[in-house]
Parts: sequence; structure tokens; C-alpha cells
Amino acid sequence: MNTDKAAPRHFLDLKDHSPATLRQMLDDASQMKRDWKAGIRAPQRAMFEGLVLAMIFQKPSTRTRISFEVAIRDLGGAAIVLHAQELQLGRGETIADTARILSGYVDAVMIRSSDHEDVVDLAHHASIPVINGLTDVSHPCQLMADILTYEEVRGPVSGTKIAWIGDGNNVAHSWIQAAALFDFELTLAVPEGFDPDPDQIEWAKAEGASIHIHRDPIAAIENAECVVTDTWISMGDDKAVTRRAALAPYQVTTDMMAAAKPDAIFMHCLPAHRGEEVTADVIDGPASVVFLEAENRLHAQKAILRWCLVGGSTSS
Ligand code: CP
Ligand code: NVA
Repeated sequence: MNTDKAAPRHFLDLKDHSPATLRQMLDDASQMKRDWKAGIRAPQRAMFEGLVLAMIFQKPSTRTRISFEVAIRDLGGAAIVLHAQELQLGRGETIADTARILSGYVDAVMIRSSDHEDVVDLAHHASIPVINGLTDVSHPCQLMADILTYEEVRGPVSGTKIAWIGDGNNVAHSWIQAAALFDFELTLAVPEGFDPDPDQIEWAKAEGASIHIHRDPIAAIENAECVVTDTWISMGDDKAVTRRAALAPYQVTTDMMAAAKPDAIFMHCLPAHRGEEVTADVIDGPASVVFLEAENRLHAQKAILRWCLVGGSTSS
């Protein structure tokens, strides 16, 4: 159990952190990835030995669950996976009480929740770090892996143009926050009725971000270095038929990619639905970096865990 009485280091949203802190986490992730590829497994295991990460899932997960579990194990700790419906939380025990109970047993909590406010509430009442593993509002861990991936493939993201095509959803919100914090232009093409939360855009613009909303995907994609999309039907969304009809003109196709820069890359947080938000020839084609993006979740999670648990890189 963590007996450190200092305020816990939560990772709830990118916008809670300075560009310098996020950059330090990305540098740490890159270094750990190089070590991992060289067969060096977390040299500072002693520091994490005995640390336990609880992971609460109110929604399904492949990448987030596996990458966090492997990440904490490689650092030298352990994970407990908790499905919300199997906890008393599912029978009405409060978030506040759950936070106090978890704080007495484990060293950090990662939570995937339907309601962002539940995660904020959990962090408010916990004396251990809380990590947002996706909510209806945002997906900050995904964006750390996405920026890591972009920079691994294309170099610094600062000053580039990235186009988001499709639904103005939770992942789009984290891209909007990232645009402000990592200093790139973000153009979004979304149909009417699917705009991102205006508060997210207002926050990013107040931070100096260059963000533009278009209805025409080609206008958004022109000269972009990277085209990003996500599922049209996020976990918990209803009205699938209506959504599919409204979003159909926003399917990322080879013709659409041709409007971007010639060497533009394609990104998607996955899971993908070939034939809906993206055609198979794009996601399985040479511009796609989606599997590198998924792989990089592991290295990004390790950096986030290190920052939350021991204050960041232990190698310097
Ligand atoms: N991208 C992502 O978070 O995937 P999972 O839902 O599989 O965790
Ligand atoms: N927008 C998607 C992302 C899945 C990782 C969802 O919330 O289901």
C-alpha cells in the first residue's frame, strides 16, 4: 500500500498537464521502447516491486487492458482487473466509498467509465493516482501513444497539420487537447450534429491552438500530414442506423487520402470497422500506422504509470 501522503498524481486529461510534463513522459516512453526492443526489461524493477494497479472496466477493452497489465508487470508490479458489474459499485456503492476502499489496498487505479464525472469523483476521493482509461469525454492515454507514434514515423508533431474525420467523440476531444499542448494544427470534418464539445474547442483555442471545423472532409484533409478517424458508434452510443447514415460521407477512402500530403499517414485508435469509418485498402495499406499505434500503447502506459507512481523516469 502506498503510504506517501503527497497529493496523488492523477492522469485524467491531457489538459491537466503542462507540455513539458507530457513531453517528459513521451521521452520516457521512447527510451523504454528502445530498451524493450533491445531485450532490456525495466531496469528499475525494485522501485515498483509490490506496487499494485487496479483496473476497473465499465466497458470492454482489448488494447487498454492488455497494455496496462503488461506495462505494470514489466515495471515490476502487478495488476488486478475488476469488471464494474462484479463490484459493489454495480449495486449502488458510491464512487467515493469505492475510492477510499481502493486507496487502502492498491497503489493506483485505472478506470474505463461511461461517465467522465465518475472518474473525476474517484480521483477526488482517492489518496492514490487515478488514470482515465477512456470515458465518454476523453481518452488521454490513447493520445500519448498517438503522439509517440506520429513522432516515431514522421518526426516532431509541432507545426504539422492533422485532420480528424468523422464523429466529434471522446478521442476527438483528446486530439483537440493535444493540438493545444503539442502545438499542431487540427482540422476536423464532422457532420452537423456530431460536433465535438464546444467547451473543448474553446479551451484549446484559449491556449492558442489552431482548430477548424469543416463539413467537407476534403477541405479538412488538404495538405494534412496525418488523417485520423475512429468508429462511428462508440461504446454506449445508440441510434446506430442514424449515425451510420449521417457519417457515411465521412468514410476515409483512398480518394480522400489523396487530398492529403503525398506521404500522409493514417491513424485510428482501433477497434476499426472496415467498410464503415475507413475502407480496408486505407487501413490495411501503406499509409496506415494503426498497429504501431496499438503497440505504442504499451510504452505510453509505462511512462504514464511511472509518472503517476514514482514521478517519472527513474533512469536520469
Ligand atoms: N484504443 C483502445 O482504447 O482500445 P480498447 O478499447 O481495445 O482498449
Ligand atoms: N470512441 C471509441 C473509442 C474506443 C477505443 C469508443 O468510445 O468506443
